[in-house]
Amino acid sequence: MKRTLVTSALPYANGPVHIGHLAGVYVPADIYVRYLRLKGKDVLFVGGSDEHGVPVTIRARKEGCTPQDVVDRYHNIIKKSFEVFGISFDVYSRTTSKIHHQFASDFFKKLYDEGKFIAIESEQYYDEQSGEFLTDRNIRGECPKCHAQDAYGDQCEKCGSTLSPDELINPYNAVTGNPLVKRSTKHWYLPLDQYQPWLEQWILQEHKEWRPNVYGQCKSWLDGGLKPRAVTRDLNWGIPVPVEGAEGKVLYVWFDAPIGYISNTKELCDANPEKWGTWQQWWQDPESRLIHFIGKDNIVFHCIVFPSMLKAHGDYILPDNVPSNEFLNLEGEKISTSKNYAVWLNEYLEELPNRQDELRYVLTANAPETKDNDFTWADFQARCNNELVAVYGNFVNRALQLTKKYYNGIVPACGELTDTDRAALAEFAQVKDRVEALLEDFKFRDAQKEAMNLARIGNKYIADEEPWKVIKTDPERVKTVIYISLQLTANLAIAFEPFLPFSSARLREMICMDTLNWEDLGKTDLLPAGKQLGEPSLLFLKIEDETIQQQVEKLQATVRANEAANAKAEPVKPTIVYDDFQKLDIRVGTVLECERVPKMKKLLKFLIDDGLEKRTIVSGIAQWYEPEQLKGKQVLFIANLAPREFKNGLVSQGMILSAENYDGTISVTTVEHEVKAGSQVS
Ligand code: MF3
Ligand code: ZN
Repeated sequence: MKRTLVTSALPYANGPVHIGHLAGVYVPADIYVRYLRLKGKDVLFVGGSDEHGVPVTIRARKEGCTPQDVVDRYHNIIKKSFEVFGISFDVYSRTTSKIHHQFASDFFKKLYDEGKFIAIESEQYYDEQSGEFLTDRNIRGECPKCHAQDAYGDQCEKCGSTLSPDELINPYNAVTGNPLVKRSTKHWYLPLDQYQPWLEQWILQEHKEWRPNVYGQCKSWLDGGLKPRAVTRDLNWGIPVPVEGAEGKVLYVWFDAPIGYISNTKELCDANPEKWGTWQQWWQDPESRLIHFIGKDNIVFHCIVFPSMLKAHGDYILPDNVPSNEFLNLEGEKISTSKNYAVWLNEYLEELPNRQDELRYVLTANAPETKDNDFTWADFQARCNNELVAVYGNFVNRALQLTKKYYNGIVPACGELTDTDRAALAEFAQVKDRVEALLEDFKFRDAQKEAMNLARIGNKYIADEEPWKVIKTDPERVKTVIYISLQLTANLAIAFEPFLPFSSARLREMICMDTLNWEDLGKTDLLPAGKQLGEPSLLFLKIEDETIQQQVEKLQATVRANEAANAKAEPVKPTIVYDDFQKLDIRVGTVLECERVPKMKKLLKFLIDDGLEKRTIVSGIAQWYEPEQLKGKQVLFIANLAPREFKNGLVSQGMILSAENYDGTISVTTVEHEVKAGSQVS
């Protein structure tokens, strides 16, 4: 094959991207293209934002802006995040571009003109007041199974049943609340059933090497029997259907988005044909190999629908492989955009600046390649500190610092090799083949493990040889040990480039290594004797407990906020008579002093003016207030509660009343305007 075209799923521009996206799609794709480039292969890496579809319109309505505003905002945020994470797209464009609209429209028109679609009239839900047809997600109504009032047209979130809009009782427009009626509408369908025999041959017979999860999903779709799929929608956001009498209809987002891979390639090639050639070379020449990197929810579209579109068109090559990952969970829970439960890349970059390689490393080490996997902050910290810092960083730092100390940063000459030298060299000579085989097989997790193994070999070698001791007895020998350690260091810069590009660049700067070529991997003369090296500095810094704790707390706060949003008020307690209430002596007190209690993290100690005297009240609300915030405030307290003694001997004379919000946060009760201390509450 002459060239490789790599695509990664176009993310929806209706929110930022999160670690699940990075782990599942963009990091593996980036590792793969960086590796191919290092090998000197002809490769083109296409990305872009997927900017059509219903979710964008829903977000726009919610925020009171236009769909274009929404996608402009998120396209820029997403594009920036990818850049900063070193996802090395050759082109990152968007499906609202003129080129794409034209290209997708022409693609549809050609299939339409050649009679590749079938037109079907059907009854769909229509909102007469707003004058629009509704998509499944925009239809709500009573669930036929559990009778929840707000089930969606495709699913009931209460009982989890999969639904179709027709099953809903009393359907209504999710946005306006208007009741819906049925109205007839015409749409164009791609008759996938006609492609079934061809797909069975092409996938089930000719692509048995695809990952089991991908192959298995394709097989179960095919075994279930394919049906025609609508490729148009009644919607006012998208690419207009280029056919007379199709006013108010647009191409279905899943029809236009994958064509975005092609139109984005065209945009790149047209802008710089000398460098990139023509888009047709990439997409239509059988000497091109096409690889789609996607998440598992995209398998059917990339293995069945899009290939059928390309086949229907007739001029295109088909994907050679579709390495799809499973999902990444976060602290044991599903990542959710709508619940804001995620680690967003743009926020990560602000909160852990210059830690891109750390995240890339951990996401690859935990890549959900064969099954769903879990990201935890504790594991993130452990891998950074125990592997990047303690193994890779430590080895490189020792080698470079010793070179500086003993030889003024000049590579020493290699003397005669000992058996241990030969053993170490033999071990690392094999790494190239292993990493290559794994990368070509899309096993990024194991490939990175092999690269790390190289650092382990180095770390063990230098620890065993103890040059810092031997220097006193046999300084000639140390030259050889350092020479070998430096060659290993240069090898690490190459081996890790696809995985950890930022660290590799820094390392290469430290060792003044201008060339970068995969074929050099395994060589032992990359840094010749006499070469002057640059100034060493630490390649990785430890991740502190505090950083991890902040991230964990942030997630917990999101969970609490979600719980609060969904929580209902507690049922009311059993009825009491007025006399019971009168037994309580509730008063207003003025906070004279407020301070934390040593060794008791939860407690605040108040000195209250209760109108008669000063009394001490202790309250377990230190998590929610700084003492200064409460000084001078008037608070409600129970004046006749029996005194309560705390473990450390502190006695509380009464209790300050405060409200517990649904999310567990605390708010102290005060009076609406100032009253005299001691005023009674009834
Ligand atoms: N936007 C889709 C998603 O995030 C992926 C689209 S991939 C493409 O699930 F092929 F359609 F571009
Ligand atoms: Zn239900």
